[in-house]
Amino acid sequence: MHISSLLTLALTLATTVCGYVVNEGTTCEIYPEALTHNAKAVDDSPSIRQAFDLCGINGTVIFTNNTFSINSALNTTNLLNCDVSLRGQLKFSTNVPYWRSHGFSVIYQNQTTAWLFGGTNVTLRGEEGGWINGNGQTWYTENRNASNQPGRPITLTFYNSTNLWVDGLTIIQPQFWATFVWQSTNVSITNLFVNATSDDEWGTMNTDGYDSWRSSNLLVENATITNGDDCVAAKGNTTNLLARNITCNRSTGVTIGSIGQYPDWPDYVQNVTFDNVRLFNSEDGAYIKTWPGVSVDEDGNGDTGGGGGGLVKNVTFSNFELTNVGLPIQISQCIYTTAVGICNTSRLQVEDVSFVNFTGTSTFNVAASLYCSPEVPCPGIKFDNVSLQSVNRTLGLPLWNTTLQDEVYQCAHIASQNASGIPCNYLAPDNYGQEVTQNVQ
Ligand SMILES: *[C@@H]1O[C@H](CO)[C@@H](O)[C@H](O)[C@H]1NC(C)=O
Ligand SMILES: *[C@@H]1O[C@H](CO)[C@@H](O)[C@H](O)[C@H]1NC(C)=O
Ligand SMILES: *[C@@H]1O[C@H](CO)[C@@H](O)[C@H](O)[C@H]1NC(C)=O
Ligand SMILES: *[C@@H]1O[C@H](CO)[C@@H](O)[C@H](O)[C@H]1NC(C)=O
Ligand SMILES: *[C@@H]1O[C@H](CO)[C@@H](O)[C@H](O)[C@H]1NC(C)=O
Ligand SMILES: *[C@@H]1O[C@H](CO)[C@@H](O)[C@H](O)[C@H]1NC(C)=O
Ligand SMILES: *[C@@H]1O[C@H](CO)[C@@H](O)[C@H](O)[C@H]1NC(C)=O
Ligand SMILES: *[C@@H]1O[C@H](CO)[C@@H](O)[C@H](O)[C@H]1NC(C)=O
Ligand SMILES: *[C@@H]1O[C@H](CO)[C@@H](O)[C@H](O)[C@H]1NC(C)=O
Ligand SMILES: *[C@@H]1O[C@H](CO)[C@@H](O)[C@H](O)[C@H]1NC(C)=O
Ligand SMILES: *[C@@H]1O[C@H](CO)[C@@H](O)[C@H](O)[C@H]1NC(C)=O
Ligand SMILES: *[C@@H]1O[C@H](CO)[C@@H](O)[C@H](O)[C@H]1NC(C)=O
Repeated sequence: MHISSLLTLALTLATTVCGYVVNEGTTCEIYPEALTHNAKAVDDSPSIRQAFDLCGINGTVIFTNNTFSINSALNTTNLLNCDVSLRGQLKFSTNVPYWRSHGFSVIYQNQTTAWLFGGTNVTLRGEEGGWINGNGQTWYTENRNASNQPGRPITLTFYNSTNLWVDGLTIIQPQFWATFVWQSTNVSITNLFVNATSDDEWGTMNTDGYDSWRSSNLLVENATITNGDDCVAAKGNTTNLLARNITCNRSTGVTIGSIGQYPDWPDYVQNVTFDNVRLFNSEDGAYIKTWPGVSVDEDGNGDTGGGGGGLVKNVTFSNFELTNVGLPIQISQCIYTTAVGICNTSRLQVEDVSFVNFTGTSTFNVAASLYCSPEVPCPGIKFDNVSLQSVNRTLGLPLWNTTLQDEVYQCAHIASQNASGIPCNYLAPDNYGQEVTQNVQ
């Protein structure tokens, strides 16, 4: 339809016209400023705020099939009985100095978000090919592989929500983490698609697909995530999370953690299931990662911490298919440090964790490295039908630079190890980094 006839139609139907929000009854349709500003990327955030003010309670908000410029941070929280339909493209601006000083704090690791969204009885649906373009390449390039840069914004944070259903969301080139669920309960994210891919030499560090914190009763179903960090991660005080039918490309796996960063906030993560997960060309697979029991200062960003306590209990990783995964199964209690001895200090208890039905290939000769802190050896760790082979092995090739030609299962401080079903054949080292880059010797 021609733009002017579209507008004429919209104006004809409208009972109220406020800027570019067409409000009829309880429905607000948003049109971009570009339509009347010679296609210039004029900020659409004011119209978006207006639409949520008008229709965020007992209403419907529709982003029409157009390109919207998000040049300023959005806080659309405290919605009630609201259905949001995302058609067209939401395109975030790349004004790095602006975003670094205007994101909304999410408290955790002093991170910020570009869009704080939530409420009670809310749906957010990607429809008719609607998508979010984080325009993240600018961030990947300026970040130069550094970690957790403060002020680099999470694309979309679901905050303080009860009964939130997010369906069919597509996020391309997220600036930082794509989605974050914070202080919420009953949140379902279905049919999520995330793709963070850099087109230059700098990677997509910290482009997590889904992270949750201080939240419960969560579902993630049918997700395809391509990125450079955690695919789906349950952080502190995530309880009752079910993540199923998840495909992860190039990620650092599906994870519990990182946790144990803050002594003042013990992390409890219980009743978590990752089921039906496919991982391709990923650094890690099923991964539980805690900080050590003493404070370590990596680089002064969100990477300072350690010494936090808590509990990880009743976690199941089931039905995993791995293709070329660096560390298929890992428990580490000393991430972010490779100093000898530090791994022995964590007091964060990990227990009742099952790894069931794992098939596929590891990149190197390591299938699993399970290092529990001797302060809190891990009871109830179970392997059931875990069968992995190195990529070289499947090709009939010998493993380079090692005498360990069979798959290595490293264990340390597993309580009742003999009853665990883990074919432990080597001692897990206490100074593993976050990834393996070669066969272990
Ligand atoms: C929203 O709808 C509920 C009933 O579903 C009603 O009780 C409430 O007053 C409405 N709120 C507003 C602001 O219209
Ligand atoms: C976001 O908006 C709500 C009103 O809906 C307000 O109560 C809250 O303080 C705002 N949050 C921030 C971080 O500005
Ligand atoms: C946030 O930064 C401040 C100042 O650097 C620091 O004191 C505080 O511990 C940080 N908070 C978190 C949650 O990382
Ligand atoms: C949310 O939806 C449920 C089920 O439809 C309803 O019972 C409840 O009253 C709603 N909550 C609010 C605050 O309107
Ligand atoms: C949305 O707009 C795009 C670009 O104008 C167009 O290609 C597409 O067909 C539209 N989708 C629908 C469902 O109308
Ligand atoms: C969180 O949501 C509740 C309603 O569930 C509301 O009363 C409260 O003001 C919200 N808190 C913030 C900080 O927005
Ligand atoms: C992700 O984006 C890159 C770059 O645009 C593209 O080459 C790749 O095919 C995409 N991956 C998926 C799974 O769509
Ligand atoms: C997951 O995808 C399948 C196949 O497209 C579909 O049948 C199913 O309803 C989806 N699940 C959810 C929760 O949307
Ligand atoms: C799993 O999710 C993908 C989308 O990520 C979907 O295409 C596929 O049909 C789903 N499979 C099942 C069995 O639901
Ligand atoms: C988790 O919940 C417990 C209380 O159940 C609280 O003491 C702790 O500070 C919380 N941790 C976080 C990360 O919110
Ligand atoms: C874990 O699930 C069990 C069984 O549903 C439930 O009784 C328990 O309260 C849950 N734990 C937490 C911390 O929610
Ligand atoms: C463990 O968590 C699962 C959900 O992931 C729940 O169904 C089960 O009841 C829990 N078991 C216990 C002993 O809490």
